[in-house]
Amino acid sequence: MNRFLDISSVGIEFNTDSGTFRALDKVNLSIKQGEFVSLIGHSGCGKSTVLNIVAGLLEATEGGVILEGKEVNTPGPDRAVVFQNHALLPWMTVYQNVELAVKQVFKGQKSKSEIHDWIAHNLELVHMSHAIHKMPHEISGGMKQRVGIARCLAMQPKVLLMDEPFGALDALTRAHLQDSLMEIQNDLGNTVIMITHDVDEAVLLSDRIVMMTNGPAASIGEILDVDLPRPRDRLALSESPEFNQIRNRALRFLYEKQKFPGGGSRAKKPRLEAVDGASESKSASAAA
Ligand SMILES: Nc1ncnc2c1ncn2[C@@H]1O[C@H](COP(=O)(O)OP(=O)(O)OP(=O)(O)O)[C@@H](O)[C@H]1O
Ligand SMILES: [Mg+2]
Repeated sequence: MNRFLDISSVGIEFNTDSGTFRALDKVNLSIKQGEFVSLIGHSGCGKSTVLNIVAGLLEATEGGVILEGKEVNTPGPDRAVVFQNHALLPWMTVYQNVELAVKQVFKGQKSKSEIHDWIAHNLELVHMSHAIHKMPHEISGGMKQRVGIARCLAMQPKVLLMDEPFGALDALTRAHLQDSLMEIQNDLGNTVIMITHDVDEAVLLSDRIVMMTNGPAASIGEILDVDLPRPRDRLALSESPEFNQIRNRALRFLYEKQKFPGGGSRAKKPRLEAVDGASESKSASAAA
């Protein structure tokens, strides 16, 4: 197997006022180049902690992360992170926000005009060419998120790390951005790890869905392979028995095998569709 990114026996403990808290224990995951992997699990289980360890923002207490044969333990442009809230610099235009990242990565390698073309190209990928000179406060939340994605893509990272990138957006904007991300990933072959609370989003976008157990000492519970052909069409898939079967397996894991800690009342339980049914796919947001 092509082992591009290896998360090996990762565990982490945090020091808290009430003593040591073990958030993760023995997390093992190998990711292939070009693979799209979603991390899903109840709130507080440790998804962001896993992502932040891969990003080099947190240091594992045990185990480690190997990317293309090298251990990573500091942040680097080879692992760009898209956060739930864009994190654009408010005093810079859309163009300048992307330029900052591009200059950081390609300084001395690309000429001025190549840098300009590269910024324009990446903003075009996320359909933001019309607003390159706008300030962040002049554009919508979905547009800011597009710029955040363009900024990360423009760094040509080995791995794109996304922590609930569409979580703060309305359903329609989220659907548009999911489609854009699928197109881009299809064209560029990016390796992606994306955290989501939305089971439908995970099935639509992923090659594999990694489902985490509840903490403390959270680990990987089950991994679902999503063998649906690409390109994927959300409307056609909602009628597809295969899609609904995978979706139901993810929902069963979350709502039967790994109930929300404390009784599950915080999680709105979505309806499980008949596994072989062609019934309309309801939103399966597993927001906890
Ligand atoms: N710096 C820290 N110090 C102490 N505990 C922490 C720290 N960071 C995270 N934790 C704890 O580790 C656990 C996992 O947190 P994490 O943010 O990874 O969860 P998550 O799965 O991303 O949750 P959500 O879906 O709500 O974003 C939680 O119990 C959290 O309280
Ligand atoms: Mg999180």
